[in-house]
Amino acid sequence: MAVALSHCSIYIPALLQAGIQSALEPAGRGAEEIADLFWWMASAAAIIWLAFIGLSVYIMRTRDYAHPERWSRMLIIGGGAVFPVLALGGLLAVGLPLTSHLVAPAPEGSLHIEVSGEQWWWRVRYPGPDGKPVELANEIRLPVDEPVQFRLTSLDVIHSFWIPPLAGKMDMIPGRVTQLAVQASRTGTFRGACAEYCGGAHALMNFPVVVMARPAFDEWLRRQAEPARTPSDAAGARGFQVFLSEGCGACHTVRGTDAAGTVGPDLTHVGSRLSLGAGTLPNEPADFRRWIENTEKIKPEVHMPAFGMLKPEDLRALAAYLDGLE
Ligand code: CUA
Repeated sequence: MAVALSHCSIYIPALLQAGIQSALEPAGRGAEEIADLFWWMASAAAIIWLAFIGLSVYIMRTRDYAHPERWSRMLIIGGGAVFPVLALGGLLAVGLPLTSHLVAPAPEGSLHIEVSGEQWWWRVRYPGPDGKPVELANEIRLPVDEPVQFRLTSLDVIHSFWIPPLAGKMDMIPGRVTQLAVQASRTGTFRGACAEYCGGAHALMNFPVVVMARPAFDEWLRRQAEPARTPSDAAGARGFQVFLSEGCGACHTVRGTDAAGTVGPDLTHVGSRLSLGAGTLPNEPADFRRWIENTEKIKPEVHMPAFGMLKPEDLRALAAYLDGLE
């Protein structure tokens, strides 16, 4: 069941590949240690289970009082008291040091990424190339083989930050900063999720995680730090006007424009992301349109109102504009 569950809940067709959210196909240090512990525990549990099933079958087939009382008493004391103490004590001896190891901070000078849980998306801040923070949302990119320190907090309720293939999970608590060190061991695209029930759209609060080589990561971050590009096509230019006139900028920031809202996700480079609506839809112009028209249907209880009343050509233009924000 655990194996089946670790592979479930994949919503994004674009990211649909085996194991991107599997804790049992680890691609990071913490996750490797957790997976090792899991296999040791699962194997030991299987052996103990088989031994007890064997013993039960043996008991059913044996007549009463077939063994001396001393032998039976030893079995009860040994199997019922001594063995559980040794087994659970051993597990504790292995598990406790692992736990403290898993929450150990990344070395001084490591990349710090701030992530804030919001209902129901992720606000992400990187230190920009010039030292100023660069804000984005619902996507995390990491350099491979480097320790990274996540500083986690929450705006509203308790969320839990979890990238199963890379590391353990860590709660995000309003008013506090919790930390988690992550070190990815291979490049690839993975999927993180909120692992603590946080209200209506909890299950639709996910994010792609892309682990890249250092040069590609630097290039990506450099582009993320740039202001939004001005639309060069007619549809995009019209979409930008719709964006401003409909008041989208009251909630969303598009750096380099008058839109400077901070309630919702930063959209400066939303067109470059792998998903929309925090891992809910693929990132295509048609999906931007679907999202703006039907936010509430796609993500129940979402705080963004649907803009289904817009004229179809305005919707199309808005989608073209957002898709062009790469
Ligand atoms: Cu956020 Cu569950």
